[in-house]
Amino acid sequence: MKIGVIGAGTMGSGIAQVAALAGFNVLVQDLSEPALERATRTIGDSLARMVKKGAIEASKADEAQALISTTTVFDLLDDRDLVIEAIVEKLEAKAGLIRRLDAICRADAIFASNTSSISLTELAAASAHPGRVIGMHFFNPVPVMQLVEIIRALQTTDAVAAKVTALTEAMGKTPRVSKDSYGFIVNRLMAPQINEAINCVHEGLATVADIDTMMKLGANHPMGPLALADLIGLDVVLNIMETLYQGFDDPKYRPSPLLKQMVAAGYLGRKTGKGFSEYR
Ligand code: 3HC
Repeated sequence: MKIGVIGAGTMGSGIAQVAALAGFNVLVQDLSEPALERATRTIGDSLARMVKKGAIEASKADEAQALISTTTVFDLLDDRDLVIEAIVEKLEAKAGLIRRLDAICRADAIFASNTSSISLTELAAASAHPGRVIGMHFFNPVPVMQLVEIIRALQTTDAVAAKVTALTEAMGKTPRVSKDSYGFIVNRLMAPQINEAINCVHEGLATVADIDTMMKLGANHPMGPLALADLIGLDVVLNIMETLYQGFDDPKYRPSPLLKQMVAAGYLGRKTGKGFSEYR
């Protein structure tokens, strides 16, 4: 099974890493050569961390790294059995990719999207073979997080869903299937909680550090909601809230005014060095 990953950001590099660790040949494609170089470094660092912790042998890390190649050339994805996209969260960009993949890949190749909020059914509609489009929603940090949410578009065939579920297990992850709906399952539950934590900051109820500590010690979460927002990216959280708010047309999903301001200010969390905390 040959896997293609489009987009060499945090999620794309994590997906490439777990696929290669499971023994799959992986081609990572991105328009930007520096992004590909960064992804190769990130994967190397993460594998080195796993070796240091004794989670994997050094030889296994070397094998995984050897299974990953990178390219800026889109057409080299033509021999892939499964292509997973992890590009910018814009419907038109993702739909455009699916149309381009349709033109170069075999008719039985599967196209998966790692989208956190875009309708899989709308994405599938971009393909001439919509039954082959499915959601594979990984969680950050991908090498650590066990779940992959499998999202079935209205058009996804049973055969494609079964193949992708089995493949997720072969990657050492735990698949769980959801029908296509705004935010799927995890983000529909998680993003409103983060949004409400941001409202608590906005109302001046407690400090960022104390709100995070309360949720760690009072709800046994591994990290507080505001630290998690910084990890995910505040722009991504806002995107999910807007999808829920507009999709369900329900005021209970209204994005926090402070979240909107933080995004407008460019305070997106770890990736920009500043969010609810500062990162250097
Ligand atoms: N690569 C490899 N290993 C990594 C890693 C990486 N990038 N990041 C962390 N690890 C490993 C560490 O080596 C450590 O291994 P060990 O248990 O064998 O010692 C383990 O993960 C825990 O890491 P740390 O000791 O550094 O730190 P923590 O114990 O604080 O854990 C965390 C960090 C795993 C991020 C934990 O805080 C956590 O689980 N947080 C919640 C993350 C979460 O909820 N993610 C989901 C985000 S939502 C999403 O992605 C969906 C999207 O659509 C928005």
